[in-house]
Amino acid sequence: MKQFISVEDVPGVPQMVDIALDYKKNPFKEKGLGENKTLGMIFLNPSLRTRLSTQVAARNLGMEVVVFNIDKEGWALEMNDGVVMNGNTTEHVKEAAAVMGQYFDILSIRTFPGLKNKEEDYTEKYINQFIKYAGKPVISLESATLHPLQSLTDAITIREQWQQTRKPKVVMTWAPHVKPLPQAVPNSFAQWMNAWDEVDFSIAHPEGYELDPKFSGNAKIYHNQQEALEGADFVYVKNWSSYTDYGKILNSDPAWMVSNDTLKNTNTAKVMHCLPVRRNVVIADEVLDGPQSIVIPEAGNRTWAAQAVISEILKNR
Ligand code: CP
Repeated sequence: MKQFISVEDVPGVPQMVDIALDYKKNPFKEKGLGENKTLGMIFLNPSLRTRLSTQVAARNLGMEVVVFNIDKEGWALEMNDGVVMNGNTTEHVKEAAAVMGQYFDILSIRTFPGLKNKEEDYTEKYINQFIKYAGKPVISLESATLHPLQSLTDAITIREQWQQTRKPKVVMTWAPHVKPLPQAVPNSFAQWMNAWDEVDFSIAHPEGYELDPKFSGNAKIYHNQQEALEGADFVYVKNWSSYTDYGKILNSDPAWMVSNDTLKNTNTAKVMHCLPVRRNVVIADEVLDGPQSIVIPEAGNRTWAAQAVISEILKNR
């Protein structure tokens, strides 16, 4: 594996899940793999889980880790080529990425979308500039349109929580939020579930919240949440802003919040969310604090997803 930006970079979803679950059983089995290697973690945006779990994963493999909050501690970056830099930006990504490529064996980056310019976000301009100029393998810690470390985590969590031979019914449902959020997590979850033949996947959202079809693919789409959730084994809850009316909030209907009542016709579904989650806006306390929530073990699996990804890149360099 040369980089980890989307599901298209991995040898296969089941293979990655197997590798991750092997590390979960024995985290230090390849402690020497990353010896004398350094992972650079570059953040243009906040993070709790990605930041901490990826550091733990790299250290489990014997790597050194350097975390750089470039948005707060670095020079203001210019991402556009060929501009006259007489404004607020101080350093061009051409130099910044190339210099960081001199220090690190693997570069990992979080770059959220602006949610203003759909074309800029959906061409993944920022992460692609880092890939272009770093000269080292790049791992996405969440980009403008995808969050593959989260999606691999979600696949790991579904596999380990599902003990039956039939395919589980996995439904991703939109839920309300007070702020316009990126489509990265739902795009990525849809992309990974569609690429994985161990699940039966569908999506529920209000009209106007259709995802980019290149990610929603052949998933069945419902505009009626109850109809979608009938018999669900896993309910993946997430808010996103509109893709079609780009970056806008079109619906705030609290009836889409996931409560115990929402789950009444599911197969006692396990409830997942990438976190952070706004309680009693996206998911009710009674669900998050109840027996159907698996959000904490899900977050715990972030470490094994990151370890699987880092190890595959180290082994294939
Ligand atoms: N789910 C997730 O990526 O969490 P953080 O934003 O805290 O890293």
